[in-house]
Amino acid sequence: MKIAVLPGDGIGPEIVRQAVKVLKRLSRDGLKIEMEEAPIGGAGYDAAQDPLPQKTLALAQAADAVLLGAVGGPKYDTLPRPMRPEQGLLRIRKELGLFANLRPALLYEELANASSLKTEIVAGLDIMILRELTGDIYFGQPRGTRKTDNGEREGFDTMKYSESEIRRIAQVGFGIARKRGRKLCSVDKANVLDTSILWREVVIEVAKDYPDIELSHMYVDNAAMQLVRAPKQFDVILTGNMFGDILSDEASMLTGSIGMLPSASLNAANKGLYEPIHGSAPDIAGRNVANPLATILSTAMMMRYTFGEEAAAVRIESAVKRVLKQGLRTADIHESGMKKVGTEEMGEAVVAALHA
Ligand code: IPM
Ligand code: MG
Repeated sequence: MKIAVLPGDGIGPEIVRQAVKVLKRLSRDGLKIEMEEAPIGGAGYDAAQDPLPQKTLALAQAADAVLLGAVGGPKYDTLPRPMRPEQGLLRIRKELGLFANLRPALLYEELANASSLKTEIVAGLDIMILRELTGDIYFGQPRGTRKTDNGEREGFDTMKYSESEIRRIAQVGFGIARKRGRKLCSVDKANVLDTSILWREVVIEVAKDYPDIELSHMYVDNAAMQLVRAPKQFDVILTGNMFGDILSDEASMLTGSIGMLPSASLNAANKGLYEPIHGSAPDIAGRNVANPLATILSTAMMMRYTFGEEAAAVRIESAVKRVLKQGLRTADIHESGMKKVGTEEMGEAVVAALHA
């Protein structure tokens, strides 16, 4: 297992360090894991004036999987757009063809009070958001700013999806639904957008190959509402890049603990980039208070989706549940009666809990 480790910026390095400890422990126990580190985002800019340095991209291309921390920070906010840390992320997704972004929103029993919603609305919540990641208005051409005929400036972007792009993400979605609750809700804006009309048509075509999956469709505005009204109606949510960006942030907050949620971005060969869904949190960087669990859980997703090592995935997830049961909490998920620990201690505790 060749893993490219890209810590990035802000809290990235300290949380990735904890995940690396977990991987090292798995490697001592027999998995053949090789890791190599490289800079991305602001760190890439600092090292090579490029948020995705050529060497970093080459390392990621040669690896089977990528473990990423987070990118971005105030220091880089004034750079011209191609140099901004987010561009490193968008480019690595595109370059590696990582079109399928899996963002689970799972409520840990031990953290049921962390949600801002009533406990009965979110108890037992387990949603998988599948976001298309390499198309849509994020990458559509043409885009830019131009002068209109009356001399005014105008900004424009292009939302588009080809049939094949929709088909491949829908196939991933139905495949995931089959391993879960067998329900898939496709989210679009087909009452307004032509892109969405085609999206819906193609999803319905693909559904013919998955007669065992219950398919529904929802407009994105309604989906945003239903997510806070009755989130447990959802099993798998399938949607495009832009809607998925927004709905996945919303869904993450249902669990109350954005510091707990991992993600996977996969290509057609199940090569994947794994990262926590939270950002680089520059305000708490370097202070040993960040929650490393989302990054550690990202390595569990890596074992499952890229390496097919289900036992290792379950082992990591069980270790995380065990430390939560022990009452260990980083500041973001701390409540009275629990033991507050730092980033390092949390990482060590998970490694210790990997024993069984
Ligand atoms: C995400 C982020 C990125 C996105 C940004 C940082 C480019 O919000 O991964 O959800 O919009 O995809
Ligand atoms: Mg986002």
